[in-house]
Amino acid sequence: MQRPGYSRTAIIMHWLMAISIFFLFISSWWMLSLPLPSEDYKYRVLPFQLHKNIGITLIFVLGLLLYVRWIHRPAPVEPTAMTPAMHKLAAANHVVLYLTIFVCCLSGYLSSAHSGWTTTLWWVLDLPDWGEESEELNILFSDIHLWTCWILLALVAAHISGAIYHAFRRDGLVRRMIRW
Ligand code: HEM
Ligand code: HEM
Repeated sequence: MQRPGYSRTAIIMHWLMAISIFFLFISSWWMLSLPLPSEDYKYRVLPFQLHKNIGITLIFVLGLLLYVRWIHRPAPVEPTAMTPAMHKLAAANHVVLYLTIFVCCLSGYLSSAHSGWTTTLWWVLDLPDWGEESEELNILFSDIHLWTCWILLALVAAHISGAIYHAFRRDGLVRRMIRW
């Protein structure tokens, strides 16, 4: 029998992704408000490492979510929950969310790759230092990172507003993503 909503793995990946993104925004304010690293001040290192580790892991979470929802397609939404226009709007929001999260992660990674700092994934795996240290490239990708993050914040706000609207209507749509 087909599950009425998303598969369990898709639900776990969705919430892992949502929690990671909230953390990435919070950790960015945390890490950037600390003094630059020096012999005396090393406070920035931990939040930067956490931000980069969670951000890189998010690319795999995103890939897994796309893969599982592709092989176990969720059952269609009840026609009473959404008009065709709302359906198109929600689908567009999801596609742009996927793309923006990917570009946000990629630009963060590229900015970091040209910063001259190495990244050890989860303090275990040294990622290859392929990017030459370059202030120009670092700033370019950092700007792209910042702008895609703002776009992502706006998309997430629209997405959550949509979810709240459906929760108030009690049309069963939100349950597709919170059922076990
Ligand atoms: C969806 C995923 C991500 C979100 C929402 C996110 C969010 C942010 C935000 C809001 C900032 C502050 C920008 C500013 O004020 O200049 C930031 C900075 C930064 N992020 Fe991310 N980030 C993500 C993924 C990543 C990844 C995957 C990496 C690296 C592997 C990364 C590395 C950095 C670095 C090095 C900075 C500080 C320098 C800069 O501004 O580029 N981020 N991130
Ligand atoms: C950073 C936060 C979030 C992100 C990035 C995000 C992203 C996504 C994406 C990409 C999808 C599409 C899944 C697919 O069909 O491929 C989705 C679906 C969904 N999300 Fe979120 N989400 C976030 C937070 C939330 C929150 C807080 C709720 C509130 C309950 C929520 C409720 C839902 C629901 C109900 C669906 C399924 C919609 C449907 O059946 O068409 N999401 N989310």
